[in-house]
Amino acid sequence: MKKVNRICIAVFFVFVATSGFTIHGWQCSKAFGNDDKTPFIQKSRPTSSLMRIINSHTSKILEAIIVGDFNTVIKKSNEVAKAGNAIMRMFFPDGKKVDQWFDEVGKDPDDPEAVKSMKEDFEKYSKAVIEASENIAKVAKNKDIAETYESFEAMLKKVCFACHEVSRAK
Ligand code: HEC
Repeated sequence: MKKVNRICIAVFFVFVATSGFTIHGWQCSKAFGNDDKTPFIQKSRPTSSLMRIINSHTSKILEAIIVGDFNTVIKKSNEVAKAGNAIMRMFFPDGKKVDQWFDEVGKDPDDPEAVKSMKEDFEKYSKAVIEASENIAKVAKNKDIAETYESFEAMLKKVCFACHEVSRAK
């Protein structure tokens, strides 16, 4: 085969590969919702920062359960419990108005009844997150992956998602 022909074929393949990538890349970004009109924007306020800390420990618990690293499960569960202790202080700071998260659920921060009722839910769920994470640490001592995972899932469903159901914008 002549050299110039080989170059032509090579150029053709590069063209096919790059255009394939471009078209596919474009479709992928559609499939992943990158063309969404309202992209997910990370909020930067104390309440969402605390939640991101809790979330990061929670993800690490799951990773550690899957690989059977029970020491890390216990350590990270204790971190969730510690962060859980800060929930009331962060979401209902003494002498200050509730932060923007409260308006975003469609509630009025100037309505004392609405604040009081949410505060009661938060007392219940922040206690529950501490109990649930302490329970994960306790169950992890048996070094049983399936059983530890069940205690983890119970926290997600009964505490994280349950509290989000009443306190987060849909
Ligand atoms: C007491 C109620 C409550 C509990 C319990 C709770 N959350 Fe949240 N979470 C919230 C509220 C309210 C927000 C919205 C905060 C804001 O927008 O400022 C939130 C927001 C979040 C966010 C989004 C943070 C961001 O970037 O805006 C994540 C992630 C999250 N929570 C994870 C978790 C996980 C994981 C757990 C359980 C281990 C959990 N939450 C338990 C009330 C709770």
